[in-house]
Amino acid sequence: MGASGATGKLLVSELLNLGFDVFAIVRASNSLKNQFGSHSNYHEVPANISEMSDSELTPLLDECDVVFSCLGHNLTFRGMFGAPRWLVTDTVRKLSGVIESLCPDRKIKVILMNTTGNSNRDIPETPPLSQRIVISILRALLPPHSDNEQAADFLRTKVGQNHQFIEWAAVRPDSLTDETSVTNYAIHPSPTRNVIFDAGTTSRINVANFMANLATDFELWDEWKGKMPVIYNDA
Ligand SMILES: NC(=O)c1ccc[n+]([C@@H]2O[C@H](COP(=O)([O-])OP(=O)(O)OC[C@H]3O[C@@H](n4cnc5c(N)ncnc54)[C@H](OP(=O)(O)O)[C@@H]3O)[C@@H](O)[C@H]2O)c1
Repeated sequence: MGASGATGKLLVSELLNLGFDVFAIVRASNSLKNQFGSHSNYHEVPANISEMSDSELTPLLDECDVVFSCLGHNLTFRGMFGAPRWLVTDTVRKLSGVIESLCPDRKIKVILMNTTGNSNRDIPETPPLSQRIVISILRALLPPHSDNEQAADFLRTKVGQNHQFIEWAAVRPDSLTDETSVTNYAIHPSPTRNVIFDAGTTSRINVANFMANLATDFELWDEWKGKMPVIYNDA
């Protein structure tokens, strides 16, 4: 989900390069067929994830071992303040329900792109006061921020750590940048910088690389499952 976004496209590319079958749910107007259509492992599902029914999602999720979300509200007035207000949260809730109804014989990984602006309330994370004040204001004024918080909260509190069918990780980049290749990056359990007044950078291609690695590297997955890893580019 979110495959047509700036990070989503990089993740699709990374997964195809690793040899995986990719089922990308993208709105028809933003088809990626020009970019990936010639790749035999690329399967495009022309649909709006926020309008898909459980029965439409069921056959797709039945095929999958890993579900990625790089969804985010478009940075337009309509994208930020219009419907669907709970784009990311509702998607995570919907796909979790469908996975549960499938009772898969293996645990499905759900890997969510989130943000350092969100705290992991499962562990003692105490952002600086200045950050907490600004984030409270953003929470009140910008619906997409609350959506990112609620989506991760759903995974933390409703899916939890011992779900029968689902394991999850919520990847938290800092300020996103665009680079053409993967560079060195560091992963932390919690932010090490003030997200508002001393933000670091994270390239989208590094986010895509880390999300793909989480799906493919069992040791890395064991380290970060049920957590909200923070990713920064190395300085
Ligand atoms: N900007 C930052 O510095 C920053 C930092 C940390 C975290 N983040 C978070 O990172 C995430 C992804 O960032 P990005 O820059 O890669 O995002 P992006 O390029 O804006 O991509 C967003 C994706 O979500 C889809 N989408 C948006 N509204 C939709 C709707 N109503 N229905 C269905 N699909 C919809 C878009 O589809 P279409 O292509 O069809 O529009 C696109 O695939 C966001 O959650 C953002 O909050 C951002």
